[in-house]
Amino acid sequence: MSTTYEYYSRNRRRKHRSLTLNRRDFMRASLVVPAGAALYFGYSALRGNPVRAGIVGTGNEGCQAMIDQSPPGYLKYVAYHDIRPSQIARGRRSFVSLYGPAEGNTVRFFDKYEAMLADPEIEAIVIATPLWTHAKLAIQALKAGKHVFCEKLMAHNITEAKAMVRAADQAGKLLGIGHQRHYSLLYADAVKNIEQGALGEVKFIRAFWHRNNALLDPKTNELRDAWKPTIPTEDEAIRSHVKDWGYDSLEQLVRWRLFDRTGGGLMAELGSHQLDACSIFLGHEHPVAVSGLGGVQFYKDDREAFDHVYCNFEFAGGKVVSYSSINTNQMEGYGEVVMGTRGTMMVLNERDVSIYNESDPKKKERAMAQSAATPTSAADTSNKAIKETTKISKPGEATMYSAASTGGYAAAASKSSEVVSRGYKEELEHFAYCIRHPEEGQKLRCDGRVGLADAVMALAANVAIKKGQRLEFKESWYDPASTDVPDEVPKNLDLARSVPTRQKSLPV
Ligand SMILES: NC(=O)c1ccc[n+]([C@@H]2O[C@H](COP(=O)([O-])OP(=O)(O)OC[C@H]3O[C@@H](n4cnc5c(N)ncnc54)[C@H](O)[C@@H]3O)[C@@H](O)[C@H]2O)c1
Repeated sequence: MSTTYEYYSRNRRRKHRSLTLNRRDFMRASLVVPAGAALYFGYSALRGNPVRAGIVGTGNEGCQAMIDQSPPGYLKYVAYHDIRPSQIARGRRSFVSLYGPAEGNTVRFFDKYEAMLADPEIEAIVIATPLWTHAKLAIQALKAGKHVFCEKLMAHNITEAKAMVRAADQAGKLLGIGHQRHYSLLYADAVKNIEQGALGEVKFIRAFWHRNNALLDPKTNELRDAWKPTIPTEDEAIRSHVKDWGYDSLEQLVRWRLFDRTGGGLMAELGSHQLDACSIFLGHEHPVAVSGLGGVQFYKDDREAFDHVYCNFEFAGGKVVSYSSINTNQMEGYGEVVMGTRGTMMVLNERDVSIYNESDPKKKERAMAQSAATPTSAADTSNKAIKETTKISKPGEATMYSAASTGGYAAAASKSSEVVSRGYKEELEHFAYCIRHPEEGQKLRCDGRVGLADAVMALAANVAIKKGQRLEFKESWYDPASTDVPDEVPKNLDLARSVPTRQKSLPV
């Protein structure tokens, strides 16, 4: 029996030796297969003018993902709004860098969100603000007749997430939620592997996002904590105004992830990504129950957000997803390990996928018996497909990433130069494509209802973790028209009530 260290180092070696296609390779392939992701996800080049968009929130995600990785041929920013001077300036720098100085400086800054919404030129609003603001900003935009793309987690509580879905339905506008794995070719292919039976029957998924903030920052010699950034001096200018935007303090505005009223902790920020991935792997099945535990086990300050969380989701048929997010060890990074009767798939850091076959002492006999039999059932046919697309390794070894669904890309992978995408560009491309081409009736891969289901998983887990209890899921939690929710109902229900549960046209 090998130690964990030996296991990892051996597997690392194997991966280098035999894993031939990783995310980078995949994206390289997109270069030689024009509009690779678009083709893969069923859309094409946008016909007509790019969708004119405004963005609210030009912080880290707003600038680094929603602007820097936006697809100018599909979506063009014409306006933006933020409230922190440092981030307003940062937004401008991002537009200049994306569009060049002449055009970047014409992207209009609005100091009032309502004024940006009133601009008839703007067709869509991208939201990249702290969690607790999502529902309000999204519902305002939908009511103003804009399509909305809102960063994950969809909302701070399920009551407001449901109101967002209803607002989109009533406005007849698109609501996309930014769980980018729905537009990652790497994940799409991982799902194909599972669907085609490469792993056999899956009973257990272990998902994790582990960071080590105990290692001192070499520059400051202090504990690392991306959730507690230094407050830029230029933001001091708004210290006395932050209450106008609903914040208790400038610290809460800048470090919103640390506080329950403004953030949703590790499950909302990190866990939701992996629960989303697991739900994709399990065919969007809803869990039966969740139990959990956690706490502030490491930091010694006034934070409310737990720095260690652990939870187990039970699914029908005895399937379990076990999730952990910790701040004191980074050995594994982040990813999902999907364990089936025939093999294990490891998806690590949104970058590498490897499949390890289960050791099968009867493999030869089974292979011989299998080749003698003519495939008749659908299952037999899919097994045949796997053999054709997967290089089967020796028992226990890593196979190459099969690229079962994208043989063309796999073939092209080694020839092209580097392009890396985690799905941000593609999610915005498809959002814009669906706005411009409604006649095609395409559906967003992560729309409000999918985002709601992800929010239910993350926020129900938070309840289980906080109470240290097992919580059984109810189907009504996923129904936008039901007031039934797993988490705390907001004290002020004005926002949720501003979007009635039934559309006026429906009989009551
Ligand atoms: N999909 C992903 O992989 C991913 C990764 C990181 C963050 N996110 C999400 O993106 C969102 C933003 O995260 P971030 O890391 O960029 O945070 P951030 O603090 O860096 O940026 C938030 C920005 O919103 C602005 N803001 C705050 N309240 C506002 C208000 N009422 N009106 C207008 N602007 C306001 C802030 O000034 C700031 O510029 C969060 O929902 C987060 O969960 C998603």
